[in-house]
Amino acid sequence: MALSEKETLAPPQHIAIIMDGNGRWAKQRGLPRTAGHAAGAESFRRIANYCRTLGVRYLTVYAFSTENWKRSQEEVAGIMKLLRKYLEEALRDMEKNRVCFRFFGDLSRLSPPLQKLCLDAQSRSADYDVQVNFCLNYGGRDEIVQAARRFAQQVANGERRPEELTENLFDQYLYSAGIPDPELVIRPSGEKRISNFLLWQSAYSEYVFMNVLWPDFTPEHLDEAIAEYHRRNRRFGGT
Ligand code: IPE
Ligand code: IPE
Ligand code: MG
Repeated sequence: MALSEKETLAPPQHIAIIMDGNGRWAKQRGLPRTAGHAAGAESFRRIANYCRTLGVRYLTVYAFSTENWKRSQEEVAGIMKLLRKYLEEALRDMEKNRVCFRFFGDLSRLSPPLQKLCLDAQSRSADYDVQVNFCLNYGGRDEIVQAARRFAQQVANGERRPEELTENLFDQYLYSAGIPDPELVIRPSGEKRISNFLLWQSAYSEYVFMNVLWPDFTPEHLDEAIAEYHRRNRRFGGT
């Protein structure tokens, strides 16, 4: 697509990314998997900044799934350590980067210091340019089950009636309450599956699967995914 044409098309308002391929990136280099996660964190920093440049309002990233606890204790500990370091820096640089945070996932399984960092970051969610929705101990099925449970509890308490439940109301029980659905979901690393990511919210998202490992993902790859998104014909069930 010609650059001039691309420039006239508005970027998606909400982009979601499955940040996958850190382990393979490290393996290719004979490095420990944790080195891949560190490189992945740098890639995230770069892409969050680039989203601000593009004017993307919401960036939702899959950082750790409800299934990722199956990994070795060493790898999980390494990822948690990196997350703490990253969030400490993000809190420090929030004003400068104009990026605010919200967390999607069950944070109660994280260590108390990491939970505190998440809550601190979330409480400082001023009206910055980009809102990052950080998916941590997140699973799409878990999110839907938690939402259903909360609604059921309210029915049991007499606060709601079952027939009140609509798709719009159900949205309000999800981590993403109040945030528009992502128009574009990107999965780098060559895998073509969604691995329990945003199952409800991506009902009509455009998926772009890319053959690049997340630590190698550059702003040019994001441009490429957005250009592909613009070439798609979204019908939402219509003609
Ligand atoms: C994604 O990279 C990061 C997490 C799931 C935490 P991976 O660690 O899954 O990388 P690959 O898929 O093994 O290459
Ligand atoms: C999805 O990647 C989760 C994150 C990127 C955080 P995985 O590497 O865990 O997914 P699978 O195992 O390839 O499906
Ligand atoms: Mg993976």
